[in-house]
Amino acid sequence: MTKRRLMCASAVLMAGMGVGACASTTTGDPPATGPSGNFEFFSFWTGSGEAEGLDALVRVFKDENPNVILVNATVVGGGGSAAREVLAQRMEDGQPPDSFQIHAGHELIDTYVVADKMESLSFLFEEENWSAVMPPALIDILSHEGDIYAVPVNIHRANMLWYNKSVFAAHNLQPPTTWTEFFAAGDVLRTAGVTPMALFVYGGVEYVQLLEVVLLSELGPQAYRGLWTGATSWTGAPVTAALTTFKRVLEYAQPTYASLPIAWEVAAQQVDDGTAAMTIMGDWAEGFFKSLGREPGVDFGWIESPGTGESFDLLSDTFALPKGVSNREAALAWLRVAGSKAGQDAFNPKKGSIPARTDADRSLYDVYLQATLDDFATKAIVPSFVHGAAAAPSWITLVTTSLAAFIVDGDIPALQGALAANCVTAGVCQ
Ligand code: GAL
Repeated sequence: MTKRRLMCASAVLMAGMGVGACASTTTGDPPATGPSGNFEFFSFWTGSGEAEGLDALVRVFKDENPNVILVNATVVGGGGSAAREVLAQRMEDGQPPDSFQIHAGHELIDTYVVADKMESLSFLFEEENWSAVMPPALIDILSHEGDIYAVPVNIHRANMLWYNKSVFAAHNLQPPTTWTEFFAAGDVLRTAGVTPMALFVYGGVEYVQLLEVVLLSELGPQAYRGLWTGATSWTGAPVTAALTTFKRVLEYAQPTYASLPIAWEVAAQQVDDGTAAMTIMGDWAEGFFKSLGREPGVDFGWIESPGTGESFDLLSDTFALPKGVSNREAALAWLRVAGSKAGQDAFNPKKGSIPARTDADRSLYDVYLQATLDDFATKAIVPSFVHGAAAAPSWITLVTTSLAAFIVDGDIPALQGALAANCVTAGVCQ
C-alpha cells in the first residue's frame, strides 16, 4: 500500500467513517489534495534499461501523485556529459528544473551546493528516517557543512567487464581476471576477427572510466583513493605502470574508436550482437542487456574489470532540489518517492543498480544484482572519479582533455605529466 493510501486508510479507521471518505483512492478519481500542476525533472536516462528504470520510478510517483503532470526534460548522451552542460546553463540563468539527476559526491557538492543554489534536504531525511536505512558513507558524500543535499536512488558499480557468453564459449575463453589474461584472450579474439573490447568514447567519458579502472587495478584501492585526495603521487612508478597498461588496453578496442565515437549503448549493443566480445563499463550495461530480453549469466556474463576484484568502484545517482523552483511541493513528493523502498525496488531491478537503501526486497533482484548487494557489503569501496564521486567536474574536464591529447600522440610521460598538473590545477596536489 502506498503511503498516501495508508494514511487514508488509517484516517478512515480512526474517524470510524465509511469508505466514501477516501473515495478518491478507491474509485480511481484524482484526490482533491496533494501536489498538482507541471513538475519538470531533468535526467539523462535515455538508454535502454536506464529509461525503463526511470519509467518504473515514474509509475510509482504517478500512482501516489495523480494530479501532477510530469515533464521529463531529458538530455541524451555521454553518461550525462551533454545533460550536465544544459543543466549548468539553466542554473546559471536562474531557470532550474524542479528537480534534477546528479551524481553523489563532488559533482553535486563542489558545484551547486557551494554556490548556494540548492536546498538542504536534511529535514526530509529526518521525516522519512532515511539515515536509518542508507549507508552512512553514502550520506556523508551527499553532505556539506552538516546538511544533506540529495536523495540517492541507487548505487552503481563502475569496475565491471561485460562479455558475450557465446563468443567466449566459441573461442574457449574464460573471463579475464588480470590484464595479462585480458591481452591473451584479446589476441585470440583478434585473430578470429572479433573486436575484443567495444569502447564508448562519446563525451570522452569512457576514456576516463577505462583509465580509472586501470589505475585502480595497478594501485589497489587505498592508493587509488589517494589519487583524488593528494595522498598518492601522480608522478610515481605505479601510475607509470598503469598508463603503460592503459595504452596497451586501447589496442584491443575497435580500431575506429578515436575517429568514430560511439555511445555506451552502441558499445553494449556490439557485445550483445557479438561484433565485440567485451566492454568495460558500469552496471547500467546490465540494465541494457536485460531490456533486450537477455538473461544474466546465460546470454551475457560479467566479472570485475581485470585486477579490481577486491574493489567496488562506487557511483550513486541522486535527485536534488534547487532553490527557487516552480513546483516545490511536487519536487518534494518526487524526492520522497526516489528515496522510498517502493520507488527504489521498482527502479533498480530494471536499471541494473542496487538500491541506496539497505532494506531492499532482495527477491526482486536478479542473480547479478544479488551478487552486487553482497559485494557492496564486503569489498573495498572506492569512489568513481569520472562519475562524480571522487572529484569536481572541473577536474574531470581537465583529465578528459589530457586523455584526448594522449589518444592522438600516445606519449606516456606527457600524459603522466599532464595528469600530475591536472591534480595541481584542481587544487588537490601541491
Ligand atoms: C552514469 C549514470 C548511470 C548510467 C550511465 C549511462 O553516469 O550514473 O546511471 O545511466 O551514466 O548513462
